[in-house]
Amino acid sequence: MAADNVVLDCSNVTAVYDLGYNVKVRAVDNVSLTVRRGEIVGLAGESGCGKTTLMRTIYRDVTPPLKVVSGVVRLQAKDGEVTDIYQVSESELKKLRARVISYIPQGSMSVLNPTSRVRSAFLEVFQKYGEVGKDEALRLVKARLKELGLRESILASYPHQLSGGMRQRTVIALATIMNPSIVLADEPTSALDVVYQRGVVEMIQNIRNMFGTSFIVVSHDMGLHYQVSDRIAIMYAGKIIEVGRTDDVFREPLHPYTEGLINSLPRIGGPKRLEGLSGLPPSLANPPPGCRFHPRCPYRMERCLVEEPPSFKVRGREVACWLMEAK
Ligand SMILES: Nc1ncnc2c1ncn2[C@@H]1O[C@H](COP(=O)(O)OP(=O)(O)OP(=O)(O)O)[C@@H](O)[C@H]1O
Ligand SMILES: [Mg+2]
Repeated sequence: MAADNVVLDCSNVTAVYDLGYNVKVRAVDNVSLTVRRGEIVGLAGESGCGKTTLMRTIYRDVTPPLKVVSGVVRLQAKDGEVTDIYQVSESELKKLRARVISYIPQGSMSVLNPTSRVRSAFLEVFQKYGEVGKDEALRLVKARLKELGLRESILASYPHQLSGGMRQRTVIALATIMNPSIVLADEPTSALDVVYQRGVVEMIQNIRNMFGTSFIVVSHDMGLHYQVSDRIAIMYAGKIIEVGRTDDVFREPLHPYTEGLINSLPRIGGPKRLEGLSGLPPSLANPPPGCRFHPRCPYRMERCLVEEPPSFKVRGREVACWLMEAK
């Protein structure tokens, strides 16, 4: 681990969907990312850029056709113990998933079983991971709901009886009930109206403030990242191309792709015609040589067509773009 306060250290990870007949979709290509204790890191990028695959790789939720080809994913528990998630046995993995890392998959409304009451979902987590009896589990659940400002009555409800926003907050309460060090939340607000989004953002921030939990929040919605994340990582075609403090990145995006994403956001009093990104992301089965963004980049130079840019450190940021070489 780079430092004591690093909870997740994902280093040079490559993961591919091996579809046979020599077709390999390189959805996560040599990605490195660290998350510190109590930090909310946003993961942004267009649909299909590899955000969900990166989360699955970090959680070791890897089943065919997905394969992790290389890289290391280290996690630090609250007691300071560091574990490489790919080096543990199945039973250790189960413990790690309870105490250290939790995953809220994309479309997580389906995490709640429609035919059982919310109470059962919480009790199941304790049955699977906890070391306490049913009565004590229920007491802990009620105490936690109170801390999070959720009504105790949701426990007696069936999922369909809750509003979308309440259901999503319930899923987050469920994912954090065992006090993990880090939570991977994949598109936690994508199915919700703006009003409910606010509740989810506040809940994530409250959990961080109260329990020091770290989060990776995945979203293609830059507006959400602006509200929720301390740092932001921008992904393009399987690679992280810029990482920095969210405020800095929004004030002065350095990678041309980040600039395009931010310019396509509507602004009050801003220009009527938005200058967004033109073109589409490349196929990950056959990405372009050099910088993968070059076919869409307004600033491309000769070398961008042939040489892949390394990650340059610029004013506290990491930016994979040749324009940064001279900065
Ligand atoms: N099971 C699969 N088999 C083959 N290819 C897949 C599979 N799942 C995803 N892919 C491909 O991997 C790439 C990355 O997909 P991924 O779902 O990780 O993207 P994403 O950034 O999460 O997109 P979205 O914003 O739509 O959720 C895409 O090209 C996608 O088509
Ligand atoms: Mg996804």
